[in-house]
Amino acid sequence: MEKQNENNKHFMFGGCNTVELAERYGTPLYVLSKEKIQERCKEIRETFLQKYENTKAAYASKAFLTMAMCRIIESEGLGLDVVSGGEIYTAVQAGFPMEKTMFHGNNKSFEELYLAVEHGVGRIIVDNLLELEMLQQIAKEQGKKVDVLFRVTPGVEGKTHAYIVTGQKDSKFGIPLQPEIIESAVKQTMESPYIKLKGFHFHIGSQLFENDSYTDATQVLVNLMKHLKDHLEFITEELNTGGGFGIKYVDEAPRPLGYFTDAIMETIKDACEKVGLEVPTIIIEPGRWIVGEAGITLYRIGTVKEIPDVRTYASVDGGLPDNPRPALYNAKYDAVVANKIDEEKDQIVTIAGKCCESGDILIWDLQAPQIQTGDLLAVLSTGAYNFSMASNYNRLPRPAVVLVDQGKAEIMVQRETYGDLLSREQMPNSLRR
Ligand code: LLP
Repeated sequence: MEKQNENNKHFMFGGCNTVELAERYGTPLYVLSKEKIQERCKEIRETFLQKYENTKAAYASKAFLTMAMCRIIESEGLGLDVVSGGEIYTAVQAGFPMEKTMFHGNNKSFEELYLAVEHGVGRIIVDNLLELEMLQQIAKEQGKKVDVLFRVTPGVEGKTHAYIVTGQKDSKFGIPLQPEIIESAVKQTMESPYIKLKGFHFHIGSQLFENDSYTDATQVLVNLMKHLKDHLEFITEELNTGGGFGIKYVDEAPRPLGYFTDAIMETIKDACEKVGLEVPTIIIEPGRWIVGEAGITLYRIGTVKEIPDVRTYASVDGGLPDNPRPALYNAKYDAVVANKIDEEKDQIVTIAGKCCESGDILIWDLQAPQIQTGDLLAVLSTGAYNFSMASNYNRLPRPAVVLVDQGKAEIMVQRETYGDLLSREQMPNSLRR
């Protein structure tokens, strides 16, 4: 944990006193540390990009995306993985170098693909044959040749929550690895003047801690590369092995990035050598691993309800709308009482959100100091998939996002207002007074 302030009472984050941040910007508040994001990007450069030739890394922006985040990622030298027209638009508006973006998704629309080609997205990760057809038409119309990867389903099970595994055979993502299906798709691109197939992509799942599913899938892909070389003389130039590297929420023991990337690199080199293939460029695309631990959420404690001999509930001024992960995935979080960092944790308290929903519990049984109304709670590791999955359930305005760096804080996203909640509404004529 970061060095605390002089009297050691307040929780510091990014060199800022979180109690002061809450007073200045209100709560709930997402706080993102630029330094922590930069540390992760540095680790990617040092243990992967600089260690191995022909490697690339992109940030999976679905974890957290704003125009400012695009800037940080650009200045760290990484690419950007985008999955929708909205994410493409954000990157374009931020002036992100679009040739360093990769466009994913299992049901990209014609309009989204059109936008992607128009803005020169670097790689389109083709997920199915309908998309391939649309892309040929769009590329022809725009007079461009589009570089693509095929996402394939390697048939490997990641060990994580069932909602976030993706690499198993029975998955909505990717082209099935059946020789006739994949061969015919590859052939189509080889004959197309509009599409250049550069290679393949797989993504096993998210919040993974073991490297065996990556190495198993890499081996499956090398078999595919060999098969396509032998049967179609197709040479795979690139292999994207996805994201998914796990982070610490409560008591997980995360591995350094090199644990995963060294294993992937070793496997690809050995497997290619065995069958006489050139090692393709290897791409990784972590999201959560870059931004997850770089974020916290600050909440004000309101009601404290003690049910004698049962449990104490402390309710916060946000919850499910700013962090749906506990309700969705049974995700666990840790937290500290930010204004009582020096006090003994002699109480067990359950942190409840404020939504009309019994499932809106952020943390069951948190070990904490004596909590009172008005205390400030900092929930840790909320940087990934909190802001990006936030909703207005119960018509709660979404929190502001503040970027902290070496004691300075700046707004990255304004807090929503009640006016914002109504801004797209229109009263049908039939109901006007
Ligand atoms: N690449 C692809 C193709 C993906 O589908 C994903 C995540 C990533 C990369 C980045 O995965 P990461 O490194 O962040 O684990 N909402 C869920 C996570 C869904 C992840 C979806 N795909 C959650 O809150 O846990």
